[in-house]
Amino acid sequence: MSAVASKPEKTILQLAHGLCVVIRWPGGDPDGSGLHPGERAFAATLAPRRARIWIAGRIALREALARLRLSCEVAILSTERGAPLLPAGMAGSVSHKAVGDEIIAAALVASGSAFTLGIDIEVTEALGVDVGKKVLTAAESAEIERVAPDRRRFETLLRFSIKEAVFKAVDPILRAKISFQVATVLPSNDGTVDIEWRLPPGVTRPETEAMWKLWNGLILTTARSAKTRSP
Ligand SMILES: CC(C)(COP(=O)(O)OP(=O)(O)OC[C@H]1O[C@@H](n2cnc3c(N)ncnc32)[C@H](O)[C@@H]1OP(=O)(O)O)[C@@H](O)C(=O)NCCC(=O)NCCS
Repeated sequence: MSAVASKPEKTILQLAHGLCVVIRWPGGDPDGSGLHPGERAFAATLAPRRARIWIAGRIALREALARLRLSCEVAILSTERGAPLLPAGMAGSVSHKAVGDEIIAAALVASGSAFTLGIDIEVTEALGVDVGKKVLTAAESAEIERVAPDRRRFETLLRFSIKEAVFKAVDPILRAKISFQVATVLPSNDGTVDIEWRLPPGVTRPETEAMWKLWNGLILTTARSAKTRSP
């Protein structure tokens, strides 16, 4: 007897950095039959768990492109650095999570070639995972120390998520390995984020902005970086 696929829940969010699609598959079984044949062929080369989240990300990405009426007739594979490889005139980013049986994928898309984008999702239920030591700069650690103890895990996960989104937006521009220590991020309650860069000599500061929101048990962060950098 074949299992019945779970019904995905889809949400469209118009965010400051682009159109965002979040899709949740309660049974963790995204149906990749609507993807480009080249994407299905690529997914077939992946281990089953990775294939499921990769397919989930590409479904969210294609849904977001379709909502913006951006037609992408080629397979969306990946750059050599791992970012989604989109045709000129489109920018996009993907994040996904497997939580128990559930798969959640989020995609952020915008038209035009002036910016690169980043998106990250974190599940607030995963607050048990303490990523702090690896992720926080000294200034961020000091700030976390000032918040109530029961908020510290959340505030840490938020900063981690912002840095993941920022990384996805800046890596295609910098094309250099950077550490979590190069950016101190200061999120405000209104969803904006100040970013203080401390880049290695010779690396030009990217023009990047980031935003965050708490939505349906998810920390949802986005970033946008201008392709033309100031000296
Ligand atoms: C690349 C990275 C951000 C992925 O994050 P993750 O939490 O493992 O996974 P997510 O589901 O959120 O994101 C995965 C997606 O990121 C995207 N991605 C991977 N490498 C990327 C890159 N170099 N640039 C842009 N996007 C990238 C891909 O779309 C990938 O999904 P796909 O392979 O299915 O297409 C993470 O592994 C990493 O290297 N983090 C380091 C960040 C860092 O150094 N920050 C410091 C700067 S402040």
